[in-house]
Amino acid sequence: MSDLMRVMTVTLNPALDLTVPLEGLRLGAVNKAGGVELRPAGKGVNVAAMLRLHGVPVSAGGLLPAHDAPVFGAFLDELGIGNAFETIPGRTRINVKLVETEISRVTDVNTQGATVPEGTMDRVWARIAKEAPGILVLSGSLPPGLPPETWAGLVAKGKAAGHIVALDTSGAALAPALAAKPDLIKPNREELAAYLGRDLEGREGLIEAARALRAQGIARVVISDGSAGALFALPQGMVWAKPPKVTLTTTVGAGDSMVAGLCAAIARGLGPEETARLATATAAAAVSRPPGGLPDSDTIARLAQAVTVESLGALLPEGKY
Ligand SMILES: Nc1ncnc2c1ncn2[C@@H]1O[C@H](COP(=O)(O)OP(=O)(O)OP(=O)(O)O)[C@@H](O)[C@H]1O
Ligand SMILES: [Mg+2]
Repeated sequence: MSDLMRVMTVTLNPALDLTVPLEGLRLGAVNKAGGVELRPAGKGVNVAAMLRLHGVPVSAGGLLPAHDAPVFGAFLDELGIGNAFETIPGRTRINVKLVETEISRVTDVNTQGATVPEGTMDRVWARIAKEAPGILVLSGSLPPGLPPETWAGLVAKGKAAGHIVALDTSGAALAPALAAKPDLIKPNREELAAYLGRDLEGREGLIEAARALRAQGIARVVISDGSAGALFALPQGMVWAKPPKVTLTTTVGAGDSMVAGLCAAIARGLGPEETARLATATAAAAVSRPPGGLPDSDTIARLAQAVTVESLGALLPEGKY
């Protein structure tokens, strides 16, 4: 038994990722593909998979269309992730990634998920409510049938039940969820700019936005900025962490891996610099992972040493700006 804090991830709009490697894509013609891969995904599922690399006990829940529940179940079992999904009728959406290997170009075709029947969120909450207080990760988009306030509802209930609530979503669902004051958020630069309705200039723009969000009562604000790294505005201080140069395999799931690293850091009680190292190394390992596989924990440990962390000073307690 691990005595680390337990994590539960919630994915309401899971997907099967179909990766199709092609030499070149010829539109309107028959294309021959190499070895395709069909893999259970969705943000919370990705976060859970990366948390297992850190040895953190985790379960993945949310909504799963019944037709594809067996393939998700087998995937979660294999990784030692608890299966806490509630099923709904229908099929899981399939996100097709056409990878033109010679020019490293990826074309995404994302389909829509099954429509969620009314009243289903009560079942999702009932399942979460069975968990002892730990870290609750709410991430990804909302499927058809759920209103934009859906994440906000789970943020409020999760906090009231004593969880540390982490949120990673975008678009129309983001504003109501932020108003419910999650304990941790990890928008990227573009998502935050869209939420604020203005461009964020350079690093200063991110720092200013992070301060404002902390002043609103969000204790941990992490703003990611692709290969430039991320800003970590945490209760004990603010740092910028830049990843080491790695050979890029795919940027899919970079943000999810960073969220996983952040949860692992909370579970281990790390301070700002070590948190930034762990989260950044987890993300850098994910973008340079072996094709079709997961990175290993030795690689994460090695990359953590190579992350550049810059202190940006102490922060005042939240609400004091
Ligand atoms: N090319 C890269 N090399 C090394 N690390 C990277 C690279 N791209 C991203 N990262 C790391 O991953 C973190 C998250 O990346 P990014 O800001 O792209 O997240 P995101 O846009 O939320 O991604 P996602 O599409 O997974 O949601 C970055 O802060 C950085 O530490
Ligand atoms: Mg993201």
